[in-house]
Amino acid sequence: MQTDNNCIVIFGASGDLTHRKLIPALYNLFKFGRLNQFSVLGVARSELNDDTFREKMRKALLQTEDTTPETLEEFCSHLYYQAVNTSDAADYGKLVPRLDELHNKYQTNGNTLYYMSTPPSLYGVIPECLAAHGLNTEENGWKRIIVEKPFGYDEKTAKELDIQIHRFFEEHQIYRIDHYLGKETVQNLLVLRFSNGWFEPLWNRNFIDYVEITGAEAIGVEERGGYYDGSGAMRDMFQNHLLQVLAMVAMEPPAIINANSMRDEVAKVMHSLRPLTQDDVEHNLVLGQYTAAEIDGKEVKGYLQEKGVPANSRTETFMALRCEIENWRWAGVPFYVRTGKRLPARVTEIVIHFKTTPHPVFSQNAPENKLIIRIQPDEAISMRFGLKKPGAGFEAKEVSMDFRYADLAGAQVLTAYERLLLDAMKGDATLFARTDAVHAAWKFVQPILDYKANGGRIHEYEAGTWGPVAADKLIAKQGKVWRKPTGLMKKKV
Ligand code: BG6
Repeated sequence: MQTDNNCIVIFGASGDLTHRKLIPALYNLFKFGRLNQFSVLGVARSELNDDTFREKMRKALLQTEDTTPETLEEFCSHLYYQAVNTSDAADYGKLVPRLDELHNKYQTNGNTLYYMSTPPSLYGVIPECLAAHGLNTEENGWKRIIVEKPFGYDEKTAKELDIQIHRFFEEHQIYRIDHYLGKETVQNLLVLRFSNGWFEPLWNRNFIDYVEITGAEAIGVEERGGYYDGSGAMRDMFQNHLLQVLAMVAMEPPAIINANSMRDEVAKVMHSLRPLTQDDVEHNLVLGQYTAAEIDGKEVKGYLQEKGVPANSRTETFMALRCEIENWRWAGVPFYVRTGKRLPARVTEIVIHFKTTPHPVFSQNAPENKLIIRIQPDEAISMRFGLKKPGAGFEAKEVSMDFRYADLAGAQVLTAYERLLLDAMKGDATLFARTDAVHAAWKFVQPILDYKANGGRIHEYEAGTWGPVAADKLIAKQGKVWRKPTGLMKKKV
């Protein structure tokens, strides 16, 4: 399905996200012929014009994308720029003639996609300023607004933000982006579960012992110390990306895949998370912060030495949590979730650990059955089980059956931003977070925020390690160890 002709207005056009993710995503969609008539209007305070904006974006694309001069020039001819003081409603008047001109030129029937790639303080302001000039109404074409993360700072501010945006945009016009939902392998998880007869009968507390979810990053906070320090691993990764992944693992099959039924099931999971007690935050939660270390012969700064980070910061760069879901499918099954910066590798992975056989027939312990779902990089699925070692006796060893996403030859895999921008242009909100799920996620994490605010312990871990020792102790209480998710596929059986 092609997109409607439309104009994409990017607020925060001079910022990092625009040239790192949004423009490259639009470029690729254009290159692959996925866009109909379109224009992109960059908006920010900086005094750029169409030519200087095009030049900046051209440079950015040349650095990151596979371009040809003709495609690049043709794409850039669709880019426009308008300087606006984004906190001054009157100044938004400048957008009216600009948009009229673009809608006419590209015959877009007034269809407009607004993308708020700005500091969160503007998320409530921009809708109001657009409405002051009637730029939110759907009398002439659809108007949709994409809100970047973070959606609020806690439950209270998320609700306030919703109230502010809902004054000018209805829920069907609001697209809260969580780029993890745009990842191909996250969606593949749904297909794996719901279009195969094998897995679903086992996908419950009768057969599953525990679930591990890891979102590890090797990088530190880089140039984003200022932002990150107000956020931390909990707000930056856990409350949104990892809880969404958890919901995909745990949700019930929707009757059909569409925005409402999918998001109903996601919201049900968020509502079923067992509320965290004081005991949970003290004993089932580990927060950590990386310290300086030498990695591969290079000195790596500790978090407190990073640019933009106060020397006495108590912001966590690592978090591990044991949580549970209170429903018939999952009661009593622990979900261990961890995320962190400056860990040994960049890897996002889900491991479903199955229960052992009811009775050990052979003298040696049989290897555990597990299903490893690698979300990134090297997207893959690996089934691990035991088979007999050749030779005398009945000793079992772990073997694996592996599938690599790259083996689906010829498939053109869209990146998360490509997929989500395309969906927003098509009006498909299935992979965007809905307000009730976002609020439920904030409600669930509130005890963690309180624990932090009340001086809860932040453990140290050396950069380049798998987090604080306390995280190992957390899972060891159940006699388990975290998987060290480096190489996924076994070379030889
Ligand atoms: C972003 C976080 O939302 O996700 C970053 O703000 C993090 O801190 C990034 O690095 C991780 O995304 P990905 O797609 O690289 O796993």
